[in-house]
Amino acid sequence: MKISIFGLGYVGCVSLGCLAQNGFEVIGIDVNKVKVDLINRGLPTIIEKDIDIIIKEQHKAGRIQATTDYMEAVSNSDVSIVCVGTPSTEKGHLNLDYIYETAKQIGEALKEKKSYHTVVIRSTVLPGTNFKVGEIIAQISNKVRNKDFSVVSNPEFLREGSAVQDYYNPPYTLIGFDDNKAIDILKELYSKVNGEFITVDIETAEIIKYVNNSFHALKVTFANEIGRICKKLNIDSYRVMQLFCLDTRLNISPYYFKPGFSYGGSCLPKDLKALTTIGLDYGLKLPVLESIEVSNHNHSASVIDLIINKNGKKVGILGIAFKEGTDDLRYSPILKVIEGLLDKGYTIKVYDPFVNKAYLMGSNKEYMQTVLPYLQDLMQDSEDEVINWADIIVFNRKSVNYEKLVSDNPGKSFIDLVRISEQLNNSNYEGICW
Ligand SMILES: NC(=O)c1ccc[n+]([C@@H]2O[C@H](COP(=O)([O-])OP(=O)(O)OC[C@H]3O[C@@H](n4cnc5c(N)ncnc54)[C@H](O)[C@@H]3O)[C@@H](O)[C@H]2O)c1
Repeated sequence: MKISIFGLGYVGCVSLGCLAQNGFEVIGIDVNKVKVDLINRGLPTIIEKDIDIIIKEQHKAGRIQATTDYMEAVSNSDVSIVCVGTPSTEKGHLNLDYIYETAKQIGEALKEKKSYHTVVIRSTVLPGTNFKVGEIIAQISNKVRNKDFSVVSNPEFLREGSAVQDYYNPPYTLIGFDDNKAIDILKELYSKVNGEFITVDIETAEIIKYVNNSFHALKVTFANEIGRICKKLNIDSYRVMQLFCLDTRLNISPYYFKPGFSYGGSCLPKDLKALTTIGLDYGLKLPVLESIEVSNHNHSASVIDLIINKNGKKVGILGIAFKEGTDDLRYSPILKVIEGLLDKGYTIKVYDPFVNKAYLMGSNKEYMQTVLPYLQDLMQDSEDEVINWADIIVFNRKSVNYEKLVSDNPGKSFIDLVRISEQLNNSNYEGICW
């Protein structure tokens, strides 16, 4: 299999060397003649551990070359990997000019090509770019997507400084695709790369790098804010963050990482506030910590927006404690939703077996009478009472199998805050963030 690589910067140069090292014939294309000349002299275009030796050896073995002539490169290869830059515009948007320019060039070259061609987008691009690239190629080449050529999305996870090591050891190889033929080609391409080979839809593959990198940025700034607070308190922040990372059950783990409803309860809101307030007392600016509560509040408010967009004024809420399996109503985020809806003239009925039981036993009676007096009037003795009465039903607990309820009641709207099912796509069903 012969490969052409568009863009000979960090990603392109490493891919060029490593794919050649894995036995493929690779031709690099760049608009920058200096980079092309470097490769053709057996030299890398970047300073990076091990890549100089790899490029030198593979050049000597005759497996790599470079050119500015994209027509020649594409017509003599089976796969084109796009590694051109995607910088930010002045306003912060993504500049995709180089990507679309490359798509035009590939389209032109494919006009004359008889065999199937696979285009692999390795650059970091926003969802929707893959389809646009396919449109440009199809329009210019007069070829048909998924018949004459395919476009797959294959994000790159390498970090500068350890790029070769990362190339061979990514967290996984991810392919966003819509043509099975391309998958076998990509499997062969990465057969010597470690880790799981995962296939997904194109948009999922396109967004993952943005999610990863935003989270990495969040990690850095979170640790730095904790560091500044610890310094003021004369505590060793390194030791604190080491301990933090040792907890792989709740801290560094998939726990708390599922999109769903807002957090609440007696601990998270209170403790976040206490830490942020101490920092502010010392005159620190802590925008990451401070914005957590704002984000959480906005997320709860988005449920009200979802409800307003449905028909009907009678809202039934199943589950009102801050999480399932408890009767604790303190800082339960659904209460803010209930209050917001009551203010807007909605009528509400609620059911929660744990809260009901505690109320009957008297344990939360005083709290409800003093802090949430309105809630007692809304509570029903059974789920059926709520379901039969309501126009709109909100799932805030998932222990019961509610899937059938959605199918059996096409006239009612259902809003899911807890992901009762992975599969539901009924028109009367809507998830909070899926
Ligand atoms: N650098 C990283 O650590 C890293 C890691 C993962 C993903 N990425 C992503 O990979 C992409 C490339 O990043 P990079 O750091 O290698 O960029 P880079 O700026 O180092 O290299 C891009 C190269 O593309 C060339 N180019 C531009 N238009 C071209 C065209 N029409 N034909 C041929 N060559 C063209 C440029 O001359 C340049 O040499 C970006 O989308 C980036 O976000 C980068």
